Amino acid sequence: MIPIDSGDLRVERQGSHLQQALYLAIRDKIMHGLWSNQGRLPATRKLAEELAVSRNTVTAAYEQLCAEGYIESRRGAGFYVAVELPEHYLASGKPDASLQEVSDEEQPEKINQAFAPGVPDLQQFPLVLWQKQLQRQLVRKNALGNQSIKGCLELRVAIAHYLATSRSVQCTAEQIVITSGAQQALTIATLCVMGCGDRLLMEEPGYTQMRKVATLFGIEIERLPVQVKQGINVQQVCQSTCRAVYLTPSNQYPMGTTLNTEQRLQIIDWVREKQRWIIEDDYDSEFQFAHRPYTSLQGLAAQVGEAQQVIYVGSFSKVMFNGLRLGYVVLPKALVEKACTIKDALTGDSPTHTQLALAQFIAEGDLMRHIRKMRRIYKQKHQQMVESIARHFASELEIISQAAGLHITVRWWQGITEQEWVRRAKENGIIVRPLSYYEHSAYEHSSYEQSAEQQRDWHGAVLGFGNVRIEDIDDKVALLASLFKADSAVT
Ligand SMILES: Cc1ncc(COP(=O)(O)O)c(C=O)c1O
Repeated sequence: MIPIDSGDLRVERQGSHLQQALYLAIRDKIMHGLWSNQGRLPATRKLAEELAVSRNTVTAAYEQLCAEGYIESRRGAGFYVAVELPEHYLASGKPDASLQEVSDEEQPEKINQAFAPGVPDLQQFPLVLWQKQLQRQLVRKNALGNQSIKGCLELRVAIAHYLATSRSVQCTAEQIVITSGAQQALTIATLCVMGCGDRLLMEEPGYTQMRKVATLFGIEIERLPVQVKQGINVQQVCQSTCRAVYLTPSNQYPMGTTLNTEQRLQIIDWVREKQRWIIEDDYDSEFQFAHRPYTSLQGLAAQVGEAQQVIYVGSFSKVMFNGLRLGYVVLPKALVEKACTIKDALTGDSPTHTQLALAQFIAEGDLMRHIRKMRRIYKQKHQQMVESIARHFASELEIISQAAGLHITVRWWQGITEQEWVRRAKENGIIVRPLSYYEHSAYEHSSYEQSAEQQRDWHGAVLGFGNVRIEDIDDKVALLASLFKADSAVT
């Protein structure tokens, strides 16, 4: 039996006497479906105390509701809602309809559906281990209060060690600020070095979430075009007068190109000479399938004595799970205080228990074990994607991204438009992300996605395979192919 929470029950006297007002308030809850059938009403004594009315008033209201069939009394067990509201009545009830609307649009199952980019394999995460780590922390009394804005020292130490060994990032725990995912890290990094009216050089197509940060704070975006399989033109960076450049050098998002060591050194030279900033988003570095990953740009800059101009951003969204909402920013020492001031103003400190649990998860080797396992699984999934795309699309679709990360980027020249493929896939419970979604300049127009697509002589889309079961990949790609090839809406 579901006990009903009477916390928001309001008794408006307004003319009617107290018992009648209470009767009406409860009847209202039942008729709007907010107190559902078979739910157990609060005990008369408890409700009387909560509402500061006499117990007799509550008993009398309950009896009236009983007499009219809204609730029933069960011997020795209390009062229960006894009204089964017909479906159509529930649907027309105001509060319920709005709840329905919101929950349908925002269901996690929909957001993380097949081929949604950026979602790791949520089934593979070792939940039992994670639960153990969390439980160990939940009983720590000193984790209940506020703590350092930078984040828990244990976690910062664990991250510093992890980054040094896995990504050759050179930093101490003092230079790390824990954030709510890469998203907050990007916001802090941006606000540390730029303000309204400054210019940011940004990859295009590029990470839409970063564009949102720049736009929100009045920062102008200068486009840094990313060519298919070629990547960016480093000369454009070297000649730019922008205050900072945002880069995803390990696996350009979403085009899947990499910057080699020579290109990285040229960009490091740009900041050395001009006192500018590099914001490095190393989001996908753990999952390289074809070769060993390049070390981080920050690590290379440190080797040549220039790390003081590089801000490094990382996230646990892909190596753990997105819902964790933990990430970090590694700052040059001179920016740490400013970063803390910004974070303090944005959100204050971060949730403590999850930070402590994550620190243990890293320190005890669980994170590295999970990453190694997932690297193998994602490599197999990537291979399956490549095979299935070849089987069902033949030469109609070309894969343009490298073998890395949790997504594949494809392009095609003729036939269906990006928007139409997206629409058809959505109707079939599949998410296809159009390439135009990542093209910033087009956002100035109201129908931005269409106009971006029209500026190219080819079409493109991103398919995230992280959260699709390997045994389902072929069927889903076959379905995507049939939607792609169906008649109508050709360019
Ligand atoms: C380029 C890029 N950076 C960062 C992230 C991680 O973002 P967050 O940590 O906010 O979930 C993603 C996730 O897909 C990404 O694609």
